[in-house]
Amino acid sequence: MNLQNATALVTGGSRGIGYSIAKALIDAGARVAITGRDDKQLYKAAEELKAVAIRADASNEADVLRTYREVMQAFGHLDILVNNAGFGVFKKLVDMDRASFDAVFATNVTGAMLMGREAAKHFIERNKGNIVNICSTAGVRGAPTGTAYYASKFALRGMTECWRTELRQYNVRVFLVNPSEVLTTFGAVAGFVQKENETKLRGEDIAHAVKAVLEMDDRGFTPEVTVFATNPKD
Ligand SMILES: NC(=O)c1ccc[n+]([C@@H]2O[C@H](COP(=O)([O-])OP(=O)(O)OC[C@H]3O[C@@H](n4cnc5c(N)ncnc54)[C@H](OP(=O)(O)O)[C@@H]3O)[C@@H](O)[C@H]2O)c1
Repeated sequence: MNLQNATALVTGGSRGIGYSIAKALIDAGARVAITGRDDKQLYKAAEELKAVAIRADASNEADVLRTYREVMQAFGHLDILVNNAGFGVFKKLVDMDRASFDAVFATNVTGAMLMGREAAKHFIERNKGNIVNICSTAGVRGAPTGTAYYASKFALRGMTECWRTELRQYNVRVFLVNPSEVLTTFGAVAGFVQKENETKLRGEDIAHAVKAVLEMDDRGFTPEVTVFATNPKD
């Protein structure tokens, strides 16, 4: 697709990987709306990016429905949904509490489903569209303390495969992008320190992959992309 004048919704675009994806799409000529829950960060990012700010919690169904109303008011139609909003809680199975587990699934799985559902209704009507789900290398293998986060990414991966089989007949391309570790505020939100190192991935690297897969001619698509740092050091 040609990103010039395309319209996109990037959930969790107020910082980190989502911010970088929004920037790459805008730099390529797209009109982009970003979401996030923290007003201050959202409006600051939108101003920097020249994006449309929509304050919305992906896990809240009323917020999701309002997001699409605001996107339609701003752009009239949508070409691309990037389901990026997400976070992690890392606890051993024996220490896992129900509230943390449910919260991770509410954003990473239910939130992505609600956002995807509304996009799919619109894309089926238009007989075209693109959904990019930002998953993780956590979606393909397990690890200690991964019960909530890793399982949520496995679920996102599973939904992605289902959406692909449902939506291909409507010319909707459904992509899965799996970053390995990227330097963002992800670790701080989850309560651990991500050690800064120039060998580690940045949001721009994931944005590069997202832009590249979208730009392929609509007759084809790359179902899944995994992005590794070449030789990451801690
Ligand atoms: N960083 C990594 O190493 C890494 C690796 C693989 C995959 N990922 C995935 O990449 C995605 C982005 O992560 P990141 O590293 O960029 O993290 P980040 O820097 O913490 O950014 C997360 C973004 O998502 C938003 N967000 C979180 N929960 C939300 C909700 N319920 N509704 C709306 N917005 C929400 C945040 O804004 P508010 O808090 O203001 O809502 C923020 O804009 C996530 O899905 C993550 O799982 C990250």
